[in-house]
Amino acid sequence: MTTEQSPSDPVAAGPEGDLPVVLEAEGLTKHFPIRRRGRAALTGSRRSIQAVDDVTLVLRRGRVTALVGESGSGKSTVARLLAGLYPRTGGDIRLHGESVNVRRGKAFRAYARRVQMIFQDPFASLNPVHTVRYHLTRALKIHGRAGDDLEKSLRELLTRVQMTPPERYLDKFPHELSGGQRQRVAIARALGADPEALLADEPVSMLDVSIRLGVLNLLRDLKERLHLAILYITHDIASARYFADETMVMYAGRMVEGGDSETVTQRPAHPYTRLLIESAPDPARLLPAEPEGPFHVKVPSSGGEPPSLIDPPSGCRFHPRCPVALARCKTDLPPRFDVGDAPGHWAACWLYDGAAG
Ligand SMILES: Nc1ncnc2c1ncn2[C@@H]1O[C@H](COP(=O)(O)OP(=O)(O)OP(=O)(O)O)[C@@H](O)[C@H]1O
Ligand code: SF4
Ligand SMILES: [Mg+2]
Repeated sequence: MTTEQSPSDPVAAGPEGDLPVVLEAEGLTKHFPIRRRGRAALTGSRRSIQAVDDVTLVLRRGRVTALVGESGSGKSTVARLLAGLYPRTGGDIRLHGESVNVRRGKAFRAYARRVQMIFQDPFASLNPVHTVRYHLTRALKIHGRAGDDLEKSLRELLTRVQMTPPERYLDKFPHELSGGQRQRVAIARALGADPEALLADEPVSMLDVSIRLGVLNLLRDLKERLHLAILYITHDIASARYFADETMVMYAGRMVEGGDSETVTQRPAHPYTRLLIESAPDPARLLPAEPEGPFHVKVPSSGGEPPSLIDPPSGCRFHPRCPVALARCKTDLPPRFDVGDAPGHWAACWLYDGAAG
């Protein structure tokens, strides 16, 4: 098991910026080729879905990083690239600073043990004909962690996910559990590998609203007790504020804003982040009445549709929907600029060119 540490642990107590980096991606890119038929195939024209483009992110020990964006923005593709489920088109993934360049063999199995994924639908991710005991035993065996006292390890895993007494659940089938309990079993199975990073792809979006908080609190508890680095993927920017230490916003395959969650949700800098917040079910719980700061812009909620990723807009991919677009936005891709209102708050938007200076 991952060692639990006392509050006096220097890693747990150190300044946030000093927390060790577990997993990082730099310039991560994924283009899915489109199979062409007929004339296009004969002429050899090759097109692709540019699902993820030049994504850079860092997951630190004992921190939750939220990845927020609307449907089709590339969030799951980022998680699957990090988990090694897809080959990447470009970029680098590093675990503790070491590049990960293989997707099979012993080295990859060691990587996969340390970087575990939790999926949106716990029912689909558990085999309906097998019990909780089977799923957890299999995970422990695959990762060589069954040990001498398997029964004790199984009980420990269920206790970790607050399914107590464990004996009540071990011989149940997935259909005999509630949605929240099934997701806890999926989390316990991931913990069976003794991971350092969890990639949680919308882990509560298929659960009843009433039990979502319980599962998020469990993940937070695991972060604090086991010092896991967690990537939390969600559509719901309000839950990112509640649950994540840092929030990154993705639009049409590219990262557009990042920073600590409080700053990104309370003082969103990028016009797309403002749109996302204003179209959230209850914006009042997120935004102050009057946005602060010289660069903050109001984006109408009827903000249009996300673009095609086969032929994405030139320059800033948000420019066709952006109410404050500048002439250069159509041609020049904005790099990350410091917003200047909080350490580490950045936006990929020309409005901030020179803002921090
Ligand atoms: N295996 C695949 N083959 C081809 N295209 C894919 C594949 N997986 C994803 N895509 C495309 O890549 C883009 C990003 O998809 P992705 O699933 O990563 O988005 P998402 O942000 O997770 O969306 P959602 O919030 O709906 O889950 C979409 O246009 C999608 O159609
Ligand atoms: S770079 Fe331009 S188009 Fe893109 S969000 Fe900023 S102002 Fe709008
Ligand atoms: Mg997804």
